[in-house]
Amino acid sequence: GLGRGPSHLLSLQDMTPNDLTSVLSTALKFKQQARAGTLQPSLKGKSLAMIFSKRSTRTRVAAETAMALLGGHALFLTSADIQMGANESVRDTAAVLSGMVDGIFARVDAHRDLMALRTHASIPVINGLSDDYHPTQALADLLTMYETVVADDILGTGAQLPDDWTVPDTRFDPTKLHGRKLAWVGDGNNVCHSLVLACAKVGLNATIAAPRGYTPKPSIVAEAARMPVVTHSPIDAVRGADFVFTDCWVSMGQEAEAAARRKAFKGFKVTRDLIHAAGPKAHWRFLHCLPRKNDEVDDAVFYGRESVVFREAHNRKWTIMAVLHHALGVGSWQE
Ligand code: CP
Ligand code: NVA
Repeated sequence: GLGRGPSHLLSLQDMTPNDLTSVLSTALKFKQQARAGTLQPSLKGKSLAMIFSKRSTRTRVAAETAMALLGGHALFLTSADIQMGANESVRDTAAVLSGMVDGIFARVDAHRDLMALRTHASIPVINGLSDDYHPTQALADLLTMYETVVADDILGTGAQLPDDWTVPDTRFDPTKLHGRKLAWVGDGNNVCHSLVLACAKVGLNATIAAPRGYTPKPSIVAEAARMPVVTHSPIDAVRGADFVFTDCWVSMGQEAEAAARRKAFKGFKVTRDLIHAAGPKAHWRFLHCLPRKNDEVDDAVFYGRESVVFREAHNRKWTIMAVLHHALGVGSWQE
């Protein structure tokens, strides 16, 4: 678009609050249009290279099915497929892909690998998870929280959301989330970092409870225009919360630390007892990016009436579809 260069998404800091509103409105529109069968193939003839050095269910399936619905094509390139990293440099890979495809969606270990791709690519580079960030996850999380607050208005506070229910008005209104409390209980990791940045952009008040040594990186927290509260007390975090989040205690690539982590995170499991001891809002909601282990949340919460985890997973599709439409089609986060 207009001499601005490609619309990269390495971190949510690549989007202004207005960009975020625009992209989430597109996601709401796509979700409705897909149901009505009126989706326009805005990425006809476009291709997306998906360089994934780690496993994925949601991110991969969301992106591939989104590209198909928009009339485009996705190539899934694991480390066993692509030359990059084994026989070819990031620089040469980026130069080659820039002349053949219209965007790169990459899941990497070190965030700097994404920065290197961005440096050498002339097409948009989108982060599909790095050690520091998971921006497309945070977009789905915002959309899901938004749906629940709109549902509270329309269906009644705390009402169950039927699977096929979505908001009638496709204009995302961030003021509906403003001032609400989000509690994160667990690892101050990649998913947590992007959620903190997302909260700052829509005016959600985030409280992070993490064990000592596992709090979010101060340099990343400092990027947020609205600083989260960081504590070591899960009960303090959950008290009065509208939304309770967690993620696994052992992320991909941290398997060697599993035993030490399980020990450090003792007391950080999200259970009904924890929530009730804290005294949450009468109607709170539980979210989790998935994949889920039994360590960090019990079945009663994960499958309970407050849980919107599968809606959240499905919303990966509409939010990633919106990101791809804007980055590869429109060339800007604004329509
Ligand atoms: N939440 C998420 O990114 O899931 P996958 O690892 O399955 O893509
Ligand atoms: N924190 C997790 C998120 C997976 C989607 C990981 O990095 O493995």
